[in-house]
Amino acid sequence: MNDFFSNNDLSIDEIKYLLLLENKNDIKLLYDKASDLRNKTIGNKVYLRGLIEYSDRCSKNCYYCGIRAGNANIKRYTMTDEEVVNCAKYALENKYKSIVLQSGERSDKEFTNHISSLIKKIHAATGNELRITLSCGEQSMEVYKEWFDLNVKRYLLRIEASNPELYKKLHPADHNYTKRLEAINSLVKTGFQAGTGVMIGLPFQTIDDLANDLIFIRDSGAVMVGMGPYIEHSETPLYQYRNELFSPQKRMELSLKMIAVLRILNPKLNIASTTALQTLDPHGRELGIKAGANVIMPNITPEIYKQEYNLYQGKPSIEQEPDICKTEIEKEISEAGCIVAWDEWGDSKMYKT
Ligand code: 5AD
Ligand code: SF4
Repeated sequence: MNDFFSNNDLSIDEIKYLLLLENKNDIKLLYDKASDLRNKTIGNKVYLRGLIEYSDRCSKNCYYCGIRAGNANIKRYTMTDEEVVNCAKYALENKYKSIVLQSGERSDKEFTNHISSLIKKIHAATGNELRITLSCGEQSMEVYKEWFDLNVKRYLLRIEASNPELYKKLHPADHNYTKRLEAINSLVKTGFQAGTGVMIGLPFQTIDDLANDLIFIRDSGAVMVGMGPYIEHSETPLYQYRNELFSPQKRMELSLKMIAVLRILNPKLNIASTTALQTLDPHGRELGIKAGANVIMPNITPEIYKQEYNLYQGKPSIEQEPDICKTEIEKEISEAGCIVAWDEWGDSKMYKT
């Protein structure tokens, strides 16, 4: 096993071997190697991003997602500007130094203009002290440029599944893989610290797909990554395949292995320990850090909205997620052998300004 860690240039077969490890000691060795490598390369600090789930209105219909346009059984909301600005101020006051503004995808002018004005309001209310990340889906190059010029330097857009054939099975015909790839490239070209990622344990997904996802991410130009287990949602077309999935434990383990192998492939990436991990295991976020992640995204959305923003079922509620509490965050991160980077922007060490 040790041979695998002598360089970062793993072959597809080596990646598959690591993803398929069964022996508990070997798996622990993999996680330990990944977190050691993180500590040696970029340090053992964990950066915070306050997640604001701005709106669950979405014009798209991804087969896996609970807030897809076709789901008539959810309440649709959009936070007011004042609510968003208050969340942003909260993040700054609590030394998060960084927020992620996430919403369903809309490309109408009303929406994109509104995001622009919201960005200006956030910067004005926080004295330009916060790093803003947007996660608002595929947009034109012009829109990306407009947001970048408003001092938004980070953008998350997952490829979801890097195999075009698999992508096709997870999306309706009008969701175009090439267009998505181009959108990720546009983000990189615009100068964003781009983030991408995939879901793990999807119906129809193979180990080859996952190994290729990691290679895709390594070569994508992204400096940030968010990956997590696929979690079924009863109001989605993919729910019919729920009995064909890996068990939640297996999806959890595969997700942690994916984080660890990605850390080995590219030690300087900012890798998030995602909410989906925490959904499958109350200690999921901590486990993600132990497997090599270095970012957590405490959810600071007001509770009334948080309940509605259900991409998948079983999302942690406020009782299970006492994020906002400083000592809880400290405890969780120190149990994973790391320290919290309070009051730091936490740009990726791959990003050259
Ligand atoms: N399970 C896990 N992740 C999901 N997402 C959407 N639906 C699900 C699901 N059912 C993820 C997608 C998207 C991100 C915002 O949430 O990867 O990019
Ligand atoms: Fe909309 Fe994103 Fe959900 Fe797809 S994954 S339906 S684009 S919110």
